[in-house]
Amino acid sequence: MQRLKMESVDITKKNIQKIAEFFPNVITETRDKDGRVTKAINFELLKQELSSELIDGEECYDFTWVGKKASIIEANRPIRKTLRPCVEESKDWETTGNLYIEGDNLDVLKLLQESYLNSIKMIYIDPPYNTGKDFIYKDSFTMDKDDYEEEIGLYDEDENRLFQNTDSNGRFHSDWCSMMYPRLKLARNLLSEDGVIFVSIDDNEVHNLRKICDEVFGEDNFVAQITVVGNPRGRDYGGVARMHDYILVFSKSDRTKLNLIEDKANKFSLFDDIGGFELRELRNRNIKFNINNRPNLYYPFYINETNIDENGLYEISLKRVDGWLELYPLESQGVKTVWRWGKQKSAENVNVNIKAKKMRNGSYQIVEKYREPRVMARSVWWDKETNTEKGTLLLKELFAVKCFDYPKPMEMIKRICEMSVDFDAGDIILDFFSGSATTAHAVMQLNAEDGGNRKFIMVQLPEPTDEKSEAYKAGYNNICEIGKERIRRAGDKINEEIKNEQLKIGEEEKKLVDIGFRVLKVDSTNMKDVYYAAEEYSQQTLMKHVSNIKDDRTDTDLLYGVLIDWGLPLSLSHKTEEIEGAKVHTVDEGSLIACFTENVSENVVREIARRQPLRAVFRDSSFRDSADKINIVEIFKLLAPNTSVKVI
Ligand SMILES: C[S@@+](CC[C@H](N)C(=O)[O-])C[C@H]1O[C@@H](n2cnc3c(N)ncnc32)[C@H](O)[C@@H]1O
Repeated sequence: MQRLKMESVDITKKNIQKIAEFFPNVITETRDKDGRVTKAINFELLKQELSSELIDGEECYDFTWVGKKASIIEANRPIRKTLRPCVEESKDWETTGNLYIEGDNLDVLKLLQESYLNSIKMIYIDPPYNTGKDFIYKDSFTMDKDDYEEEIGLYDEDENRLFQNTDSNGRFHSDWCSMMYPRLKLARNLLSEDGVIFVSIDDNEVHNLRKICDEVFGEDNFVAQITVVGNPRGRDYGGVARMHDYILVFSKSDRTKLNLIEDKANKFSLFDDIGGFELRELRNRNIKFNINNRPNLYYPFYINETNIDENGLYEISLKRVDGWLELYPLESQGVKTVWRWGKQKSAENVNVNIKAKKMRNGSYQIVEKYREPRVMARSVWWDKETNTEKGTLLLKELFAVKCFDYPKPMEMIKRICEMSVDFDAGDIILDFFSGSATTAHAVMQLNAEDGGNRKFIMVQLPEPTDEKSEAYKAGYNNICEIGKERIRRAGDKINEEIKNEQLKIGEEEKKLVDIGFRVLKVDSTNMKDVYYAAEEYSQQTLMKHVSNIKDDRTDTDLLYGVLIDWGLPLSLSHKTEEIEGAKVHTVDEGSLIACFTENVSENVVREIARRQPLRAVFRDSSFRDSADKINIVEIFKLLAPNTSVKVI
């Protein structure tokens, strides 16, 4: 029976497999550090495959920094960590589709590689800008511990590596690039083929970030460098008062299509019972479309010149009425033009969304009430809604104290969501530098406004708050506590407002928003060392390790470890029942059934097999010997031949 790996994906190995598909000739064999034969790439051959010129190591256009190679290795290196669910700190655990993950985002991105591969529609991040005052989480690969202590003199009791990156650090920019590069590489894998990433940044690193993104996402996938005027008064950084920062936008591929957004500047002046609108002629002014090639769009309307509404528009009909004026689409340049809509669509909208308008010269036009003026997002955002102050005020409204510096304005992230995510497709939005969780707030607020079904995944390091800060004094010991509390407060307020909303006659009740979230925390793997190096342990030692699972891990920990390993989403529903004293967990109505009880009986195994889940998983040590295991395999062969069965 196959064992689950219980460690994150070995991306180097996967990359070699991908290259082998295209260039089988460049695959060679080598020995790893333990003397085992493994597949490797002959790089000279690969380079030659990709060039029509003879390759002899000449200079080429390249962006590099100290530590770049180490950061590539780091992005690909598997880790033996897991995500442990924390039901007590979660909200609506059973029903929510949202996640709040605590830990270093490099670990989290690695752990999500299988479960969310090609599945995130939009990523928004607001990383530390490297202003010279930021605390940056130093990844262990960038320098060894001694160097580190010497250079920074900062380590907390958990050997956490948060350090203040000041510009006296000789590798000021390199360290920042090494921090961002592996994270962006891993993030790209998670984006769906039509996905898009938005990264907030300012002048300190925008040039480096753009080069890194060019390399990670491909220069052709650059979409925009949006300037956001967040501080119209300007802040004096010496010489010129800075008013703005940026959002870099890169798509995953040319399949990404950004949506038009609401045109806030274009306020409506006309209103009816449905809402505001502007008028657009129903006639297609493009004479390329005419009676000769679109005869079905050429038909008459009839206008009642005696019935005018409060907007000065006239009643119309598609059927002839005595005394009403007949109107066909006008002739232009000797060509009979046509309507934009067919007769069926016009019939459905007559007098609700289309009417007639009298022009100054006494003639009539058929007009559409265009209710949603939408425009392409602009590359400079300087409206009040994206003002930095707005973010601070909103958070202060929720907490009464200032508990986070420079949260982003929620409206800015709402706009980004509008541009990039379909409202009702259950698209997932990821923010892996989530701070005070403005992104989660924006997703819930937007869902409340348009009845959407977007989901969020927030990732945040439990960075301690400063003991002198208002947040600390208010009882928030780390940033995750602020983020989670914000989602709770903002969510409750949003649903309360929906419940209290006065409905207009005939208006349907709005549905409540998913304001829940499952909390998961990065921790060491659930498995003891023996799990990963079984061959190094003698049979006798193995017997002593009765279980290969750490003693403090619960069934739910193991279940989530298995979801991660098997690449299943962490928001799937699951229920637990007892069968003959054994706890049995069913995920997503049978995508997976897990039983981690020791000494599981044959009857229980038979019952699980009878339900024919897609996957089944047991604890290795529940079976006394290999005869037992063969028996299980036989039971599944007989009762559930399509179930994939594994052990941990
Ligand atoms: C600029 S703030 C983001 C603010 C956020 N956009 C908001 O509106 O509240 C960056 C956040 O990233 C977090 N962070 C920094 N390094 C991290 C890491 N390695 N993993 C996870 N979070 C990290 C910091 O603790 C900080 O809260």
